[in-house]
Amino acid sequence: MTADQTVEALRAAGEPTRLRVLSLLAGEELSVMELSRILDQSQPRVSRHLKLMADAGLIERFPDGARVFYRLSSDLPARRLIDTVLDLLDISAGDTDDRRLEAVRRDREAAAGAYFERVAPQWDRIRSLYVSESAVEAAITRAAGNGPFERVVDLGTGSGRMLTLLGRKAKMSVGLDLSQNMLNIARANVTKAGLDKVELRHGDIFATRLPEQSADLVMVHQVLHYLADPAAAVAEAARLVMPGGRLLIVDFAPHQLEYLRDEHQHRRLGFADDEMRRWLSGAGLTPSAPIVLPPDTDGLTVSIWTAERPAVAAEKVA
Ligand SMILES: C[S@@+](CC[C@H](N)C(=O)[O-])C[C@H]1O[C@@H](n2cnc3c(N)ncnc32)[C@H](O)[C@@H]1O
Repeated sequence: MTADQTVEALRAAGEPTRLRVLSLLAGEELSVMELSRILDQSQPRVSRHLKLMADAGLIERFPDGARVFYRLSSDLPARRLIDTVLDLLDISAGDTDDRRLEAVRRDREAAAGAYFERVAPQWDRIRSLYVSESAVEAAITRAAGNGPFERVVDLGTGSGRMLTLLGRKAKMSVGLDLSQNMLNIARANVTKAGLDKVELRHGDIFATRLPEQSADLVMVHQVLHYLADPAAAVAEAARLVMPGGRLLIVDFAPHQLEYLRDEHQHRRLGFADDEMRRWLSGAGLTPSAPIVLPPDTDGLTVSIWTAERPAVAAEKVA
């Protein structure tokens, strides 16, 4: 950062509400609406603060359909400056902000949780409403590779479709989900498919409690767009990938179907390739070129992103 840029950034940060915003965004990306609720200030007022900080390079604005989200800048010098300011001031968002952020999270999670509990019995039908399943599944099978796999982990397994698709190539598989209703359906589906050696467990994608580098195939299929912090979920999924193993993420390319937010609890309207590539490389994996599957008719474009953890180089024999 030049001296002028540093002064501009410090000026932009030097105001109580803006310090609160930086502290909140250090935790997760938030929409203007959410920030306005947490700060208890009108949206236009909050937007003015955000614009000033975005112009100074402290935060990034990313529109997503009709909503606008903000996160801390990914530029390293700017990030160091923010960390230093927050450290020096020893500022946390403050008790009230923390409480309100917690309430925003709770409401978000309750709405998504209630949705999945409710739709669990119809999930396989709902999924096929907006993607052409057979083409996507054929591409996933190719992208996953032939195996055999030691251990497949499917995060946000839902009705267990990825496990029934790929489980036969694995010595053992684990499916993890937050919804007990979904897990019950997954249990019935893997049994019907005649798969044993499948463990279905209740858990959170943000803190799976699964051992580090323990799976040679990790899947995250149509889950990220529901999450508040997709980058953190990618990092946790990557943590599980063993050297030489692969992470396979399937989700939508950026789209404009705003109703999916209101009616189906989507938080993000798809993901751009460069964003995903940044998350995957940031998590220590080597991304491959994405596979893009346009819809047959008026559905959504599905992208498959794969990334590998480099195999540990064999020690040279002298
Ligand atoms: C759209 S469904 C996809 C299910 C499955 N992967 C498929 O494609 O059929 C998303 C799943 O993610 C689960 N989920 C949402 N948030 C989660 C979280 N924080 N941790 C684990 N699972 C979560 C939901 O319960 C739901 O079963």
